[in-house]
Amino acid sequence: MSNLNGKAGVSPARGKLGILIPGLGAVATTLIAGVAAVRKGAPSGPDGKPSQPFGSLTQMGHIRLGKRTDNRYPKIKDFVPLADLNDIVFGGWDLYEDNVYEAASKARVLEQPLLDSVKDELEAIQPMKAVFDRSYVTNLDGKNVKTGASKWDLAQQVIADIEAFRKATGVDRLVVLWCGSTEKYIEAVDVHQTIESFEQGLRENHSLIAPSMIYAYAAVSQGIPFVNGAPNLTCDIPAMVALAKKTETPIAGKDFKTGQTLMKTILAPGLQARALGVRGWFSTNILGNRDGYVLDHPDNFRTKEVSKLGVLEDILRPDLHPELYGDLYHKIRINYYPPHGDNKESWDNIDIFGWLGYTMQIKINFLCRDSILAAPVALDLALFSDLAKRAGMYGIQEWLSFYLKSPQTAPGLHPDNDIFRQLIKLQNTLRHIMGEDLITHLGLDYYQELAEIL
Ligand SMILES: NC(=O)c1ccc[n+]([C@@H]2O[C@H](COP(=O)([O-])OP(=O)(O)OC[C@H]3O[C@@H](n4cnc5c(N)ncnc54)[C@H](O)[C@@H]3O)[C@@H](O)[C@H]2O)c1
Repeated sequence: MSNLNGKAGVSPARGKLGILIPGLGAVATTLIAGVAAVRKGAPSGPDGKPSQPFGSLTQMGHIRLGKRTDNRYPKIKDFVPLADLNDIVFGGWDLYEDNVYEAASKARVLEQPLLDSVKDELEAIQPMKAVFDRSYVTNLDGKNVKTGASKWDLAQQVIADIEAFRKATGVDRLVVLWCGSTEKYIEAVDVHQTIESFEQGLRENHSLIAPSMIYAYAAVSQGIPFVNGAPNLTCDIPAMVALAKKTETPIAGKDFKTGQTLMKTILAPGLQARALGVRGWFSTNILGNRDGYVLDHPDNFRTKEVSKLGVLEDILRPDLHPELYGDLYHKIRINYYPPHGDNKESWDNIDIFGWLGYTMQIKINFLCRDSILAAPVALDLALFSDLAKRAGMYGIQEWLSFYLKSPQTAPGLHPDNDIFRQLIKLQNTLRHIMGEDLITHLGLDYYQELAEIL
C-alpha cells in the first residue's frame, strides 16, 4: 500500500500523543474536560449516564468496507490506528493565567459537577505564556504573555516550550491545534510567500506576521502537525505550505465547521442537488462568550465573515447556474449578546424558488451550543492529523475539510464545501491509507451479478 505521498504503510499509534493548544478558552477547555470525563466515565447530563464522546466520528463513527453485501462496517477507530483517548496528554498557551479548571468554569459550557469530577486533572494544566499582540485581537488584554527581541525569538521560545512539554510528559508524538481567538483580517503579502521571506520577516518583526503564524511556524518547522480552528490565515500561506512539504508535516485549516455554517453545508447541497433556486440567505447570530466579544470588533468580524461567506458560493456555484443562484443575496451578522453565553442562537431566512419561479421560504432557528459542537471536531482533527503524520502524508490535508468552514486547498483548487462529498473524501482517504478498495457508490455490479445468475 502506498499513501498520497508514495510512502508505504502507516505506523501504529504507539505511546502517548500530546495535544498542545494555543488558546485555552471555551472550545479547548470543553475538549479537555470532555476527554477527561469520557476517560473516567463521569456522569453527565440530566440522566447522569457516563459521559460519551457524541459528535466525534473518530470515536462513534463506522465505515463501510467492501461491497454492501459483505456487511463490513467496523468502527473507524477499530479500522485505522488512532491514538486512544487514554493516551492523550493536553497542554497549551493562553494570555490569561487561569488553569484549565478555572477557564472551563468561567466559560460556563459544561456543568460545574462534571468539571468538579475531573478537577485534579484540569487544574494540573497551567497555560504557558502566550505569543500575543493586541493589534491582532484588540478586545483582549492578558498578562501571561512572552516578551522577546523579535518574532523569531518568540518562535524559538515556543519551540522550547514544546520540547519542555515533550520531556516533562514523555509523549511520543505531538499535534498543535489553534483554538485561539480570531485575529484581525489580513491578506497574504510578500512576506508570506516563501520560507526565506517569512523567516526574514520573523527576524525583522514584520507587522503582518500574526501570533498564530508564529505558533504554526514553531510546530511545522519541528515536523509537528498543525491544525487551525479559527478563520485566520495562519498556515494558509505559501511559506507555511512550503515549510510543511520540507519538513513532511500535515497542516489543515481553517475554522471549525459548527453551528450555522454546519447547517448551511447540510442544507445548501440538497437545494442545489434538486436544482432549486436561492434568491437570498440571511443569517444572524447572537452569542455572549469571549469569542463573541472578540468578534464584536469589526477587524476580527471581517475575518469570520470572509470564512462564512465563501461557503454558499462554493456549494451553489452561481458561475455554473446563473439562473438559479446568480442573484443570490447572502448576508451574515454576528451580535455580541452576553446573556446567551456559549449558547449561540442563530436564525436563517432562506428565500428559494422552484418550478416556474414560484417562491418559497425556509426558516431555521438553531439554539446551539457552540463549544459542544466544536469540541468533537477539534478532537477528530487532532487524531486524524496525527494519523496523517504516521501515514507519511504531509502538506495540506484537504480530506479534513469535512470539519472546516473554509477549507485550505492547493492553490487554484476550488474548495469543496458540500459536507456529503467531504465525508466521502474523508472515508475514501481512510480506505486508501489502509489499502482497502475505494467506494464509488456506482453499485452496478450488484445488478450485473444478478443478471448472470438469472
Ligand atoms: N466555538 C465554536 O463553535 C467555534 C467554531 C468555529 C471556530 N471557532 C474559533 O475557535 C476559536 C476559539 O473559540 P472559543 O469559543 O474557545 O473562544 P474563547 O474566546 O473562549 O477562547 C479563545 C482563547 O484564546 C486565547 N488567545 C487569544 N489569542 C491567543 C494567543 N495569541 N495565544 C494564546 N492564546 C490566545 C484567549 O485568551 C482565549 O482564552 C475562535 O477563534 C473561534 O472563532 C469556534
